[in-house]
Amino acid sequence: MVTAQPRSAAIPYLLIRFFPSIRFDTSVGKLTFSDQFLSVSTRLASPNLYGLGEHVHRRYRHDLNWKTWPFFTRDSSPAAGNSDNLYGQHPFYMCVEEDGNANGVFLLNSNAMDVTLQPGGPDSAPIVTYRVIGGVLDFYMFLGPSPENVVQQYTEVIGRPVMPAYWGLGFQLSKWFYNNSRVLRDVIQRTRATGIPYDVQYSDIDYMEDRKDFTYDGNSYGDLPDIIQDLHDNGQKYIIILDPAVSNKNRRDGSPYLPYETGRTAGVFVNASDGKTPIVGQVWPTDSVFPDFTNPYCAQWWADNCQDLHRSISFDGLWLDMNEPSNFLNGSLSGCDGNKWNNPPYLPAIKGGLLYEGTLCMDAKQIWGSHYDVHSLYGHSMAIATRSALRSILPSKRGVVVTRSSFSGTGQFASHWLGDNKAAWEDMAWSIPGILEFGLFGIPHIGADICGFAGNTTEELCQRWMQLGAFYPFSRNHNTMNGNPQDPGSFGKAMIDSSRDVMMTRYTLLPYLYTLFYHAHVAGTTVARPLLHEFPSDRKTWDVDRQFLWGRGLLISPVLTQGDTTVNAYFPNDTWYDYFTGAEVEGPYGGQTVTLDAPLNKINVHVRGGTILPTQQPANTTVYSRLNPMGLVVALSDSDSAKASGDLFWDDGEAYGYDETSKLEKPTFA
Ligand code: NOJ
Repeated sequence: MVTAQPRSAAIPYLLIRFFPSIRFDTSVGKLTFSDQFLSVSTRLASPNLYGLGEHVHRRYRHDLNWKTWPFFTRDSSPAAGNSDNLYGQHPFYMCVEEDGNANGVFLLNSNAMDVTLQPGGPDSAPIVTYRVIGGVLDFYMFLGPSPENVVQQYTEVIGRPVMPAYWGLGFQLSKWFYNNSRVLRDVIQRTRATGIPYDVQYSDIDYMEDRKDFTYDGNSYGDLPDIIQDLHDNGQKYIIILDPAVSNKNRRDGSPYLPYETGRTAGVFVNASDGKTPIVGQVWPTDSVFPDFTNPYCAQWWADNCQDLHRSISFDGLWLDMNEPSNFLNGSLSGCDGNKWNNPPYLPAIKGGLLYEGTLCMDAKQIWGSHYDVHSLYGHSMAIATRSALRSILPSKRGVVVTRSSFSGTGQFASHWLGDNKAAWEDMAWSIPGILEFGLFGIPHIGADICGFAGNTTEELCQRWMQLGAFYPFSRNHNTMNGNPQDPGSFGKAMIDSSRDVMMTRYTLLPYLYTLFYHAHVAGTTVARPLLHEFPSDRKTWDVDRQFLWGRGLLISPVLTQGDTTVNAYFPNDTWYDYFTGAEVEGPYGGQTVTLDAPLNKINVHVRGGTILPTQQPANTTVYSRLNPMGLVVALSDSDSAKASGDLFWDDGEAYGYDETSKLEKPTFA
């Protein structure tokens, strides 16, 4: 193991202090380049470090005090708030220098790795050390100079984010285990009755027959096609879950399970180390095999099965889960051989201390390489195959693909949610750094399970979370199997009223949000944006992660603590107006923290002077809101010239076309 050497001479200090243009300085330690261990350290130009995921970091700005973050896609819960490696692998960081200029560094490597952060001292710079167990050291550096420029440059390399369908920005509702269509119908009716705008209903794995992909349970969900028709008749959309694990057992009635049979014949499953026999693990359907989405024949087989399912279950989007890939066994039914892939000489600090814990053996074979090398690309490859399948089924509709596992670049194909959080105040607070990080990672259509996934929420927490979640770019209330219902309609009038109000606000602002997604898609700018991206030279913004912006012009300051009816909000030096009253925030200029009233039915939202927000009168779904009159919120800057500017991207909200600007239509601006 190579350890970063502390600097001892004064020269590097001078380099950092007086030549801040040095952003990547590996003179700090030795470079190690061997078959299964590569290590390099670099000095940072400042201690303001952001990104590196997927983990729960609790704060947007990294704690550099000897933290080691392991990278390896893993089915693990963010609820613990510890340093576990989670679902995605994004070895990318942004560093904001003392003058507010930013740089970014991306290590394009899918192998398991550790990234250790070491603090600087009064005369030494902080250090980042990479320890990677395969591949090459393929570094990309982005010189900004602004934080937004860094994200634009990074997404130029990894691919710009997909443009979601307009309805994908609407409110979405989900629960694992409605259990039958009667409960599902009740929830849909009860939610519609609240008058809360509501675009999307989900089904989790309980819609399937015996948890088998591409089936639905004829006993408990026999009338599912009618429910979907009813959703569509009401301007709503329907998303189903698909897991990668494919049962190798017959159907309930004894007939062959065709997705397995056809997949086996076509040879599309991940093979064990012999390269011939599909590796068998256990997931929801018990014994299961795993599609190798890196195999082009697999992508076709997956698309064919999605198409067959769509003939009876006319879904509008797909939700990909358990694709780290997750396995309830370690490796396979028969374990894994003891060899240098399953038990490498250096093991990063990954959860469980075993590479194949909760996943496949590392010597399993895929088309892109051994599982050891491509494990963290599994969800990414599944997202590529699924986006392509959805496009072949619905050629003129972008739809929505949501994936749990991701890698750098997955944002081109899919959206993401932050996984199995818990119904707790701290989890709600941690979700903000989470969504800001996924903005850096090029997956701006991001949100956490509103009201919390695990455990039982309280009415107050759920009300506050609906307020915050109304400003998640991806806004979905989802709940675990045995949790009490937490759809807004299951609470009292006050909670429902305030959820309706805040979702109406979201829907009013959807033209603005959609335009931000357009900019993300074509230019790589962020949607949910940290304050520091707009005010990088204001040092106080570097730590703000309990508030965030939509784009440059809308500031959201939620209540994140039980019982609070005020919120301390930081306003960087500019003119700010209360979104609801138009009142200007009073006070001395130069950046100030203001205590704002935040009774239980209110979230504070402010518009930045100089901004024009396009709006539209809300309705209960985006199908209907899109028919309503549009408007503008014009917030003048406080300068003598009193200017404001903004823009609007508008299309049919669904079709592909504009996204291949070089080949097809030009984007339309109004
Ligand atoms: C794990 C997912 O993270 C969760 O959202 C889902 O409800 C369960 N799997 C069941 O499918």
